[in-house]
Amino acid sequence: MLNIFRKKKGRLFPSGYIDIHNHILPGIDDGSPDVETSIYLLEELRELGIRKLVFTPHVMEGVWENSTTDIAATLEILEAEWDTRNRDGFSLHAAAEYMMDEGFLARLERRDLLPISGNILLVEMSFVSPPMHLYKTIADIQVAGYRPLLAHPERYFFLHQDWEEYKKLRSAGCLFQLNMLSMSHYYGKEVRNTALQLLKKGYYHYIGSDLHHERHLHQIQKLAERKEFWRKVEPLMENNSQLVR
Ligand SMILES: [Fe+2]
Repeated sequence: MLNIFRKKKGRLFPSGYIDIHNHILPGIDDGSPDVETSIYLLEELRELGIRKLVFTPHVMEGVWENSTTDIAATLEILEAEWDTRNRDGFSLHAAAEYMMDEGFLARLERRDLLPISGNILLVEMSFVSPPMHLYKTIADIQVAGYRPLLAHPERYFFLHQDWEEYKKLRSAGCLFQLNMLSMSHYYGKEVRNTALQLLKKGYYHYIGSDLHHERHLHQIQKLAERKEFWRKVEPLMENNSQLVR
């Protein structure tokens, strides 16, 4: 009943929208802990109109050392379970969200990486300090033939108010991905204000849910009911729709 109610109230995501950042693959990072939870999250996202997803589990040295094989195997398990219950043209894929650490550089050397689309690679860094050789890493990614897509630039506290640094990152070849929840107060006022400023400057290329769990889901459901949310992020959603999977 609740779903039907919400469907009438909130707007649906554009039909071609691809969610390119989430932690719905079960049991391999701090996102969904098991297949049941993953299925629940997918069913709820379907109610919002989302039918295409690229799962992006964390890959982080010493924390979540997910290999490309692990990720592919986990996708197969979830897909098999999804198919037994839901046969309705869903499109599920797997990539990763790479922390730009030493382990990442080794993977880059081996070209052992899963882009979210084409050669676009989702990367992140610590929220409190940049990696030692940030610009060298950004250059190395491109020399290896990939395009770095920086996850949630609005969430890095050391960048806040430093508009020149954001500009520099873009000039260095970084694409920017906005987190939907940054449009609410979920991560705090400063993150929201930074996101609004970056949107105003037209700095973002893509958007993602970065959905880890049910609390995130509820926030997204609330955002979907707000006109202001759609007005601000719809062009980014259109960009996501252009990504090929
Ligand atoms: Fe993430």
